[in-house]
Order: sequence, then C-alpha cells, then structure tokens
Amino acid sequence: MRNIDEMLIVDQLSVAFPGRQVLTDVSFTLQRGAFCGLIGANGSGKTTLLRSILGIQPLSAGQIRIDGVSRGNGFGSVGYVPQKIQFDPDMPLRALDLVELGLTGHKLGLPLPSKARTRLVDEMLAAVDAQNFADQRIGNLSGGQQQRILIAHALIRRPKLLLLDEPLANLDIRATAEIVSLLRKVASEHDITVLVSAHDMNPLLGAMDRIVYLANGRAASGRTDEVVRTEVLSALYGYHIDVIRVHGRVLVIAAGAANEIPAAIEQHTAHVTVIP
Ligand SMILES: Nc1ncnc2c1ncn2[C@@H]1O[C@H](COP(=O)(O)OP(=O)(O)OP(=O)(O)O)[C@@H](O)[C@H]1O
Ligand SMILES: [Mg+2]
Repeated sequence: MRNIDEMLIVDQLSVAFPGRQVLTDVSFTLQRGAFCGLIGANGSGKTTLLRSILGIQPLSAGQIRIDGVSRGNGFGSVGYVPQKIQFDPDMPLRALDLVELGLTGHKLGLPLPSKARTRLVDEMLAAVDAQNFADQRIGNLSGGQQQRILIAHALIRRPKLLLLDEPLANLDIRATAEIVSLLRKVASEHDITVLVSAHDMNPLLGAMDRIVYLANGRAASGRTDEVVRTEVLSALYGYHIDVIRVHGRVLVIAAGAANEIPAAIEQHTAHVTVIP
C-alpha cells in the first residue's frame, strides 16, 4: 500500500539528449511538507530533473509519481518557478496582474468570479509580503521582489508540490536570506513540498531537511547531514573530496594536480574549492 505521506517519488530516472546522458538512475522520495535542496553545478541536470517532474521532459527510463499519480498531467498540482525569467521594464504588466495570471494561465478549472479572484490575489500577495509593490510594473522591481511575485504566481493554484529553479541566482545576501525564509514559511504554513535548485547549498543549509546532490549524472539523496559527508560525496564524484564545516557553512574541498581533478569537480567550482 502507498504511504500517503509520499508526495514525490522519482524512481530510477534516466534522461538522455542526443549524444549526452544527463541523468542516470536517479531515485529519491520526498514526503509531504519536505523542504529539499537540489544541488549541482552548471550542466549537472537540475533543470532537466525539474522538467522531468513537471512532465515536460521525455524520459529514457524510470517513473515519477506525484501524490500517488503518475506524471504526465502537466502542471496539475505542481507549481513551477522557472530559471532566469527576464521582464522588460516597458511591459505593461503589474506585479498583481502576474499573480492573477497564475489562476488563469493554464485554463484549468472553473472560472472564478472577480471578487473571489481579487481575494485570492490579495491573500497571495500578503503570503509573500508583496503588498507594498503589487501595483508596480513587474519589470521595474528588484530581483528579490520579482522572485516573491513569481512564487505567489506559482502558489495561487494551491499546488501540493512547488518546484523552483535557481530562485536565489543573482540575489544579494539579504534578499537570498529573505527568499529562503519565505519559502520555508510557505512550505510549513501551506504544507507544501518544496524542491529548490541551487549551485551553492550554503544559503539553504538552515532551511532544507532533505538534499538531492547531482554530479556525474547521478544523485545522492537523503537527509542533509547524511548526504553532505566526505564518504558520500567522494563516492558520487568518484574522487576524494573533504567536507568541512566551518562557521555554519559547508566547504567541499578537492586537492590534486590539475590533470587529476575530474571534470565533474572542475565544473563544480561554485561549491567545490580545488586546491592544486
Ligand atoms: N534540450 C536539450 N538538448 C540537448 N541538450 C540539452 C538540452 N537541455 C539540456 N541539455 C544538456 O543537458 C545537460 C544538463 O542541463 P541542465 O540545463 O539540466 O543543467 P542545469 O544543472 O540546470 O545547469 P544550470 O546550472 O546551468 O542551469 C547540459 O549538458 C545541457 O547542455
Ligand atoms: Mg538549470
């Protein structure tokens, strides 16, 4: 019998593009309400994995189940904040219009009367603390303000699972901390499972209870303290690295001559420090 607490099951997932195997035999399970970091370097397959979960990426092998249902139903009960959205400052779209588009964007469900729509939009703006700038054009907002609006856009249809692709990229330290704590808050208040991708795990360390760490097309997953360990990450990279904790941060260190360091580590220099 299925465990009703299992919100997302990724089972032996493989994805290949012509001439390139991107994900191999990736398996993990996220419980209802879990807050999980999806950590990996450029090109490690984070976006490919999120698109697979959304049902918009063909799989070579494996299965994905969301709340007990096989994927393939598109955006149904999944909220998605894609990577790198650029808004033109001249686009005549206010922040609150974008939040409301989350209700209608996929043309699913019954149309709501306008009063009910306004109430839902107001609720969402309050949930992400965006009332102060809701009337401004989306293209004129800061990166952190735009992220809040995109999160409200994704949340307004009350998904059970929220996927965010590098929502912390290009944010300063303060905005990063604010978005992480906002995500943590919505995850617990709305009992949503959150999967958030990032290059650097450090800003998420205090918030995430699970981690999926991608390297070499494979994943190590589990509780953060189980995965972020010298033995586990060395096995994933296929090369000895050291995981060091200092001042509440994790440093991943690889030592060796340039010609010894595997490519998977070289690409990870955002969070692996290579010592020659
Ligand atoms: N549509 C595609 N066709 C061919 N190759 C692709 C396609 N999409 C992604 N890839 C390749 O798959 C690999 C993984 O890409 P993906 O975008 O999933 O990585 P990522 O971890 O999200 O990287 P980033 O941190 O740069 O966003 C890369 O080598 C990329 O070039
Ligand atoms: Mg990506």
